[in-house]
Amino acid sequence: MDTFDAVATKLETRQFDGKKVRAEVISKVLEAARLTGSSNNTQHWRFIVLSDPKDVSRLAEDSTTGLWVKGASFAVLILANPKVNGYLIDVGRALQDMQLAAWNLGVGSGIFTGFNQEKLKKDFQIPDDLVPGAALGFGYSAVKKTGKKKKRNPLSQIAFSGKYGQPLSL
Ligand SMILES: Cc1cc2nc3c(=O)[nH]c(=O)nc-3n(C[C@H](O)[C@H](O)[C@H](O)COP(=O)(O)O)c2cc1C
Repeated sequence: MDTFDAVATKLETRQFDGKKVRAEVISKVLEAARLTGSSNNTQHWRFIVLSDPKDVSRLAEDSTTGLWVKGASFAVLILANPKVNGYLIDVGRALQDMQLAAWNLGVGSGIFTGFNQEKLKKDFQIPDDLVPGAALGFGYSAVKKTGKKKKRNPLSQIAFSGKYGQPLSL
């Protein structure tokens, strides 16, 4: 899939059809994360891959805004070092690359960022120097979204030419 098309068509997937995603696909998604650039090339992130349904359910239980992840075929918990400047940008870039790499292979995904930190830390043995940045659930969508339009503001509202507020002219 063309990169722009992938960006333009990818929507968050929170309802999954129960079909297992193959290990080769999981591998490719992780490779996309690994290849992403990070602040000063620190590569401080760590990825906990959960493909056992029991682990995915535990992640759902430890979330405050991602209960839906329990239906995912696999999930990835992204950890990062909060001492690194812009660490959440690094998390965001890696997860977006993972989502697009998955989408290119027909696999949907959704992000969530709300966690019960203490429980999560204990359940997944997160070291003290790392914090959870986000989690992603992956799987095949149970809902046919083709044709569904993204709800986004028009460019004229969010982009300007030269200075803030000056209408965009290209
Ligand atoms: C930084 C960030 C945090 C988010 N946190 C959550 C979350 O906790 N739970 C959730 O279900 N979706 C979460 N989302 C997903 C957004 O709701 C989603 O990107 C937005 O609604 C657009 O969805 P669409 O691409 O399907 O139109 C988050 C997205 C971002 C970028």
